[in-house]
Amino acid sequence: MKRILKTILVGSGVMLLNGCGGVPEEKAASEAEEKAFAVEEVLEMVSKENDVTRTLYTKAIVGKGKKQGMKFDEDWRKDDVEAGPLPALFLRGVATSIRKSPVPLGLYLGSDFPVNAANKFEGKQAELFNQIKEDQKPQFFYDEDQKLHTAMFADLASAGACVTCHNDHPQTAKSDWKLGDVMGATTWQYPKDSLTYKETVAVLNSYAKGTVDIYMEYLDEIENFKDSEKPEIGDKWPAEGNYLPTAEVFLDSVKKLSSYETMKHLVAIK
Ligand code: HEC
Repeated sequence: MKRILKTILVGSGVMLLNGCGGVPEEKAASEAEEKAFAVEEVLEMVSKENDVTRTLYTKAIVGKGKKQGMKFDEDWRKDDVEAGPLPALFLRGVATSIRKSPVPLGLYLGSDFPVNAANKFEGKQAELFNQIKEDQKPQFFYDEDQKLHTAMFADLASAGACVTCHNDHPQTAKSDWKLGDVMGATTWQYPKDSLTYKETVAVLNSYAKGTVDIYMEYLDEIENFKDSEKPEIGDKWPAEGNYLPTAEVFLDSVKKLSSYETMKHLVAIK
């Protein structure tokens, strides 16, 4: 929230300076309003949303759900597999939904020692990922080939389930992951170097819609379970028993845990 306030303040600072420099004040003001956020800031915001969503899904749904006997599988979409999506596939579901939306936001989860060889970083991203592993700081660059502004953020082994599942996976490229390790990075891409408030909200909304879409697909899958016991879907979580939250309850928790609402309010005040 502090960051966002700062942005607005810096934004108005620019307006004042432009005013002194002889640029017609109105024009300068509308320009500052037009382009409210640098692409780096927006990708950082959406990546924070993703951190919260991803941790909530991994811990509260997959981690606790497994204790209730719920299953999660990489082949969860197959008809004969009665299971939910693994965290990485949940993320891919979000990415697919965003890709189908009109928002030109790209999302990809990669690693240097992936379970799925298709997720191995290459080229510039592989280079920057080495840096991320050292200091866990985000990396930003302009991808000349794709003509896309690109941001990479560390994906940490934030739950015991990340470590055990990857270490034990038959296709794993590394079997000594530890809690807290940088297991990979999320790569985000956007074609423009700055975004208006409207475009920023559209990015955040398309991410949120992506989580709802994939979560609903999971609930639809459950609906079609034939042999497995179906959890009750409502306002309770797997920590309390054989329950799953509705998509609305899930998204609500994400919003409470992140600064999403705060940002929306600030945008609304503007
Ligand atoms: C129950 C098993 C399981 C759990 C739990 C799990 N993963 Fe994965 N993860 C996988 C599988 C399988 C893939 C490959 C999916 C695919 O086909 O792209 C994967 C993919 C990934 C990738 C992309 C690179 C790769 O290995 O293919 C990263 C990074 C990753 N997971 C990190 C994590 C983190 C961090 C957590 C915890 C927050 C986590 N995973 C939890 C099984 C798991």
